[in-house]
Amino acid sequence: MPGPLPPTALRGLLDATPAAVGCFDAALRTVYANTAFTMATGLQAGSVVDDDQRDLAPALKEMVAGSSAPRRVRLGRARMPVSGTLFRLDDAYIGMVLDAGAHEALAALADEQSALRRVAVLVAAGSEPEEIFTAVAEEVGRLLGGKSAATIRYDGDLAWTVGRWSEGETRGFAVGTAVPLADSEGLTAIVARTGEPARIDDYAGVKGHAAELMRQNGYRSAVAAPVVAGGRTWGLVLVASSTGSLGQDAERRLAGFTELLALALESAETRTQLNASRVRILEAGIAERRRLERNLHDGAQQRLVALAVQLRVLQKRVEDPELARTLLSAASEELEQALGELRELARGLHPAVLADRGLAPALETLASRSPLPVIVEGVPQERLAMALEAAVYFVVAESLTNTVKHAEATEVHVQMACTSGEVIVEIADNGHGGADPAGGSGLRGLADRVEALGGRLAVESSPGSGSVVRAQLPLSE
Ligand SMILES: Nc1ncnc2c1ncn2[C@@H]1O[C@H](COP(=O)(O)OP(=O)(O)OP(=O)(O)O)[C@@H](O)[C@H]1O
Ligand SMILES: [Mg+2]
Repeated sequence: MPGPLPPTALRGLLDATPAAVGCFDAALRTVYANTAFTMATGLQAGSVVDDDQRDLAPALKEMVAGSSAPRRVRLGRARMPVSGTLFRLDDAYIGMVLDAGAHEALAALADEQSALRRVAVLVAAGSEPEEIFTAVAEEVGRLLGGKSAATIRYDGDLAWTVGRWSEGETRGFAVGTAVPLADSEGLTAIVARTGEPARIDDYAGVKGHAAELMRQNGYRSAVAAPVVAGGRTWGLVLVASSTGSLGQDAERRLAGFTELLALALESAETRTQLNASRVRILEAGIAERRRLERNLHDGAQQRLVALAVQLRVLQKRVEDPELARTLLSAASEELEQALGELRELARGLHPAVLADRGLAPALETLASRSPLPVIVEGVPQERLAMALEAAVYFVVAESLTNTVKHAEATEVHVQMACTSGEVIVEIADNGHGGADPAGGSGLRGLADRVEALGGRLAVESSPGSGSVVRAQLPLSE
């Protein structure tokens, strides 16, 4: 007869069972934990139960204090709670057995986190959206044990497949396929309508082209979650299965991926906008230099050349005082005009009065030069950052020019306000309205200039009620 099972053999046995079992002493120390228990709870032999473990510590303390009835407890992290039963083993030890499946659930969580991490790495690296669409489809498809998965983008009445994964051959839904949303009861249509996650447990009898394709491919059920980017439902991520089950918390598990997708889309959008605005600033700079070159060539340069010629002729004609006088007076007139033009050009480059004396006199000068009556109010006397002053100046200058050029207004009101955090300038005319940044480069250029300083430009202009251009600029940037 062999003797009783030695402790090492007993441990070997416990370590090999799929059940998760552990044991604690009166000091709340884990004295034994089999592999499944450690996997599910993070507690290993030697570690002390702390308050991170939900209601385990208080329950253990009560049992140490003498209570002997078995107790149900929940422990583990918030996203993956694990439950089990505590019971007294003898005077010194309290045992614990976790509910079945606890460590499988934890392993699933670990899989989910690795999948999320892989997608997050792509997003953080600024990968192309197409690459992320495909990666998300593959990760969620595999994670949820689906047969196929897709990232789908809404565009008007259509839903376009933009990322795709499937286990084995399937027909339809290839990247680039569009499915109409109208007359469909499929998931794509439901998510478009509700903006919420949804599932279909059985496609039999579901109406619409997409549902028909699902049946033809042998898919029975599917689950989907919306991708919400920039405040609207951009699209969805969908996983299809040939059996009836995709797991109870499939919607929740999809959410982590749809959030990453939204992040990728928003940062791609910001990158595109930033690039476009950089290109426009660059192009505006080049156009401005060309304009200067042309103006210098056609204006001041021509006049100075003419002046030089006149002076040379004059040199030869000093013996004829009458002619010399006429030439001299023409030359000085020419000189006056050349100087005037040069002054005008220099003003366009960087207004001297702005640099020397600040916004208040600079805006007054703009107002006095306008053919329309302009009221200017609220301009701070103190100096602001150079770029900020220049932005305000050019917003006012372009808006006044626009009013004269386009509005048929009879007066303009320039109102400035300075708070501790920002500067607001508003130019309102009483013209016929119709200001539209898409109609030229002036307003678009202003928006770029203002946005480059972290501000915002708004144009409100409805036919018949005049136009208001409003720039809001942060003081700190
Ligand atoms: N105050 C206004 N009242 C009515 N329409 C306006 C006003 N300001 C602008 N607009 C309209 O909006 C369009 C766009 O203005 P924007 O300043 O961008 O271009 P522009 O003045 O035509 O040309 P530029 O590029 O030389 O400025 C104008 O063409 C004009 O039709
Ligand atoms: Mg303009």
